[in-house]
Formats: sequence, C-alpha cells, structure tokens
Amino acid sequence: MKKVIFSMAIAAFLLSCGGGDSEKKEATDATTEPAKTEATTDLSDNPDYQKGMAIVADPKNLCLTCHKIDEKLVGPAYRDVANKYESTDANISMLAEKVVKGGTGVWGEVAMPANTVISLDDAKAAVKYVLLLRNK
Ligand code: HEC
Repeated sequence: MKKVIFSMAIAAFLLSCGGGDSEKKEATDATTEPAKTEATTDLSDNPDYQKGMAIVADPKNLCLTCHKIDEKLVGPAYRDVANKYESTDANISMLAEKVVKGGTGVWGEVAMPANTVISLDDAKAAVKYVLLLRNK
C-alpha cells in the first residue's frame, strides 16, 4: 500500500512538473508579448525619453516631489504640460530655462523654485522627456 501511494506521488510529481513547465512557458510568452508592443508605443526605447526620464527621476533634482505624470501635485501634471506645449526647440529652451530659474503664473499662483543643481542641458533633456508625454 505504501508503495502504491509512493509511486502515485512520484507520478503526480512528474506530471505536475511537466505540466508546470509548459504552463510557465506560455505564461511568460503571454506577459512578454504585450509588454514589448507597449514598450514601443510608450517610447521606452526612445533615447530622449530614457535620458530625460532618468534626470526627472533623479532624487537630487526633486522634480517628482512636485510633479506627477498624470496628476497635479504642487506643480502641473507632466501630461498637461506636454499637451500645452508643442515639442519645438523654442519651447524646449523656454521651459528648460524656467526649470533652472523657476517661475510662476502659468499654472496657478504656486511658483516653481529655481533649481540650483540641474544644468541647462539636463533641464532641456528633462523637458524633452516631459513633452514626449503628449497624448492629445
Ligand atoms: C517645489 C516644487 C517643484 C519642483 C521641485 C519642480 N517643479 Fe516644475 N513646477 C512647479 C510649479 C508650482 C509649476 C507651475 C509654475 C507656473 O504656474 O508657472 C511648475 C511648472 C513646471 C513646468 C511647466 C512650466 C510652464 O511654464 O508651463 C515644467 C516643464 C516643469 N515644472 C518641470 C520641472 C522639472 C523638469 C523639475 C525638476 C528638475 C521640476 N519641474 C521641479 C513646481 C515644482
């Protein structure tokens, strides 16, 4: 009797192993596929997007303490900024300067303070990323 149970256990083990493997494979296929297409539509392999996002996400630049992508926080949602300005050289320079020097009056009464650690080039890269978030 013990022997039977033992061999059944082995059979069950082998079965579940084999089954598990192919299931796992399907599952990873299913999850990597949409992620890939999303990545291309969502600009993840655009170097401007990558570079700017890293600057915006860098804790020393503080951008994300006041800004979120889709929600107003202290400052406007980056998506709203992107929908307001076309990604032209003039707009990128103007907004990068504002990021460095600070400013007020466009989105409300709250001012964006001058950023004393970011370079103008990094601010431009950050703004390029922000403007890529346009969806309208
Ligand atoms: C202390 C909070 C704060 C921080 C930190 C901050 N911002 Fe802002 N940001 C604001 C506020 C408030 C506004 C709205 C200013 C206005 O109405 O003119 C704003 C506006 C902006 C705008 C739109 C400017 C315009 O004229 O429309 C951009 C682009 C921007 N921020 C990018 C950044 C980036 C990039 C960083 C990080 C380097 C950053 N911000 C850090 C609060 C902040």
